[in-house]
Amino acid sequence: MSANIIDGKAIAQKIRDQVATDVAAMQLEHGITPGLATVLVGEDTASATYVRMKRKACEETGIRSIAHEPSADITQAELETLVRSLNDDPAVNGILVQLPLPDHINTNRIIDLIAPEKDVDGFGVTNMGLLSMKGRDPNFVACTPSGVMVLLEEIGAQVSGADAVVLGRSNIVGIPVAMLLQRANATVTIAHSRTKDLASHLKKADIVVAAVGRAEMVTGEMLKPGAVVIDVGINRKDDPTRKRGYRLVGDVEYDSAAEVAGWITPVPGGVGPMTIAMLMRNTLHAAQMMLRD
Ligand code: GUN
Repeated sequence: MSANIIDGKAIAQKIRDQVATDVAAMQLEHGITPGLATVLVGEDTASATYVRMKRKACEETGIRSIAHEPSADITQAELETLVRSLNDDPAVNGILVQLPLPDHINTNRIIDLIAPEKDVDGFGVTNMGLLSMKGRDPNFVACTPSGVMVLLEEIGAQVSGADAVVLGRSNIVGIPVAMLLQRANATVTIAHSRTKDLASHLKKADIVVAAVGRAEMVTGEMLKPGAVVIDVGINRKDDPTRKRGYRLVGDVEYDSAAEVAGWITPVPGGVGPMTIAMLMRNTLHAAQMMLRD
């Protein structure tokens, strides 16, 4: 079998186009432009790249991007003051504090200070708590997990009643994606570094979401034939044939998995582009919620 490839780049573009259309309509009908505040602390190169991509996506979708770039020696109190001022600013609909923050900053306190109605990353305790409760709905769901669900929807995957294995239990991906799958009526197993027999769990899984950050740890022989495989991992693998000396690979060994799976996301070009598209959608949603209040 050769798996169908899930084109995350094309699906993400479709979402961004829809957001751009809805932003233009909001400006026309209400004279309001959604605003996303990005907070990038210090000079971490990877974080700076991500924030630049997020700001570019704002520009392309018509969302106002408000950048704050405090230096790495900002104090806890100063950063809290900045977040409070963004909470109080009516031109700011969404607040994104890029992680990781420097070691001297208490990250949980910063994240939980973001107003739940502006927490477009969905990382705060209020939104995570609401996501985990039956009969309750969060204001926002974290962008990568909600992007995974959109990919499943786009390919028409049968989630209800499916056996799903989520590999990894991070607050940013593993836990929220497991909760989303469970809310969509899948039977969910969260596997992690202490799982006794990973292969036996994977072998039964109709849906696999790999988010552990270990290069190519899931191989084709572990998978159930026809499974839907969503690879969230982005890992560097040495490759002397490349100019930069490495290439990007997922948590899934693509070639062997594609022989067995029914559907698979490539790395790059699978889940990655979805994260930013969902952030744009969440920011639009934040502005829509504010209009309704
Ligand atoms: N660092 C890595 N991923 C993310 C993300 O989705 N949001 C934020 N704020 N920081 C991150």
